Amino acid sequence: MTRVETEVRPDPETASADAAEAAAGALRSALAAVGRARLAVSGGETPRRMLALLAAAPGIAWRDVEVYFADERFVPRDSPLSNQELAAATILAAPGGPSAYPVPVDAPDAATAAARYEALLRERFAPDGPALDLALLGVGPDGHTASLFPGSAAAAERERWVAAVPRAPQPPPVPRVSLTFPFLDRSRHAILLATGPGKRGIVARVLAEARAGRPKLPAARVSAIDSVTWFLDADAAGPP
Ligand code: 6PG
Repeated sequence: MTRVETEVRPDPETASADAAEAAAGALRSALAAVGRARLAVSGGETPRRMLALLAAAPGIAWRDVEVYFADERFVPRDSPLSNQELAAATILAAPGGPSAYPVPVDAPDAATAAARYEALLRERFAPDGPALDLALLGVGPDGHTASLFPGSAAAAERERWVAAVPRAPQPPPVPRVSLTFPFLDRSRHAILLATGPGKRGIVARVLAEARAGRPKLPAARVSAIDSVTWFLDADAAGPP
């Protein structure tokens, strides 16, 4: 299991800026090494600023960057709840235009969308070894990450790379499609961003589980080949 690093900053802006810089570093390294960088983004509110700053980071050949989705809400593409909509307003607007690989939310249902997204990933990634260069993740108040909710079949998945989540136990209560641990664990780097006092209790629990080496909550189970780094502001990092 990868050692978990935590970086605490005084406020959300600095945490987002430094997470964006760390993410930019991971993309630059991949671009320098193989001429291509592949990342997956999450949704929710927290990553908006980080993704906007990342899109403006210097020295990234965005045309050689591929953007995948760690999870997606099964809502129309232009819904304000859509993670693709958030990406379109931020990272996908980066100069040079990265290639977007969105979850096909035009499928008849979330299960079909998950199966189609898995087929796409299996065409584009080797069956084992390193996959994504970078997974940008968050944490929900129940300890979920991507759309891997505690106790769910998706969080327990061992074979499939993508799972459908028929009903999310957290808002918004819409079906989700999520990358699973068998795929996420093959990321070179994972960066998790959590800010605000609302995340304080769950961040403390997740980090305690991860550090004890007995991770149960999905966010505590995030691992990667090279590094797992949490960027926190002082509110999220404070005592529970
Ligand atoms: C999603 C996410 C999810 C998110 C957390 C935190 O689509 O809902 O990818 O895992 O990262 O729920 O969301 P907030 O940043 O809105 O608190």
